[in-house]
Amino acid sequence: MNYRHAYHAGNFADVLKHAILALCIEHLKAKAMPFRVIDTHAGIGVYDLSGQAAQKTGEWREGIGRIVNATKPQDVGALLQPYLQCVEALKAFNHRHVYPGSPEIARYLTRAEDRMIFVEKHPQDAKILADAFSFDGRAKVVELDGYMAAKAYVPPKERRGLVIIDPPYEERDEFPTLFAAFVEAYRKWPTGMFLLWYPVKNREETRRFLASLAEAGIPKILRAELRIKTVSEHGGLAGSGLIIVNPPWKLADSLRVLLPWLDGVLQQGDGHGWNVDWLAGESVAPNL
Ligand SMILES: C[S@@+](CC[C@H](N)C(=O)[O-])C[C@H]1O[C@@H](n2cnc3c(N)ncnc32)[C@H](O)[C@@H]1O
Repeated sequence: MNYRHAYHAGNFADVLKHAILALCIEHLKAKAMPFRVIDTHAGIGVYDLSGQAAQKTGEWREGIGRIVNATKPQDVGALLQPYLQCVEALKAFNHRHVYPGSPEIARYLTRAEDRMIFVEKHPQDAKILADAFSFDGRAKVVELDGYMAAKAYVPPKERRGLVIIDPPYEERDEFPTLFAAFVEAYRKWPTGMFLLWYPVKNREETRRFLASLAEAGIPKILRAELRIKTVSEHGGLAGSGLIIVNPPWKLADSLRVLLPWLDGVLQQGDGHGWNVDWLAGESVAPNL
């Protein structure tokens, strides 16, 4: 477990993932009934962008840095509002350049009656997160394997909510491991919303993962993918995607407004592009 998200916090992949996570949480809030957010690979929750790790890569400058400074058309601004509100509120509260991870976004956007479970396998990171969130009785932090948690903690007693699975893809078999854990969790909770993050580094690996999802017999799977440059096996992270199982009503329409704009702002040269398509559930054929 060498991966440290502090080097990557606020990068282009975080922007896509966190903006969509925020939209999904806002959708859940449209109904009065409480819900639960289960975050299986939570990280430390809050990242110092002026710290050594973030400064070393500077990745956030080409991610959230670009987004904050860009002029936003009204429709895009409205879609980014819950995410950017959290980013701005955290910065104002800390009087420092800090960035929210998925746990802080969930914590900020959820209501008094909602609950959260944050799972992190790295003992030190789990402790940092538990200490940071100890004041909030709605949140529980558990040091555990996230894939085990995905299966063990569903369905939540509220029977409403979402599971976000956001592993570091350090292991060679991370795609099949994630797929197997997700399918098992989905079978236990077929009405839950699931968000699965994936990197775009190797086209064939990504295509196999998406094809396995498309063939899993799950009725509603939406994919949102953003590539900032040409995908090449030795070129590092060229893009990322989020799979949304049981997505909110009209999320696909919203993402077809948001992603072209993100593409324009975040792109880093030839080969950039985006997709919002259904792997399962609608008549549009996915472009794998
Ligand atoms: C990409 S980061 C998570 C970022 C976080 N979801 C966010 O958006 O702010 C992945 C995290 O998973 C943790 N991790 C790695 N393997 C894990 C496992 N098997 N179970 C739970 N956490 C794991 C890493 O320590 C790291 O903090």
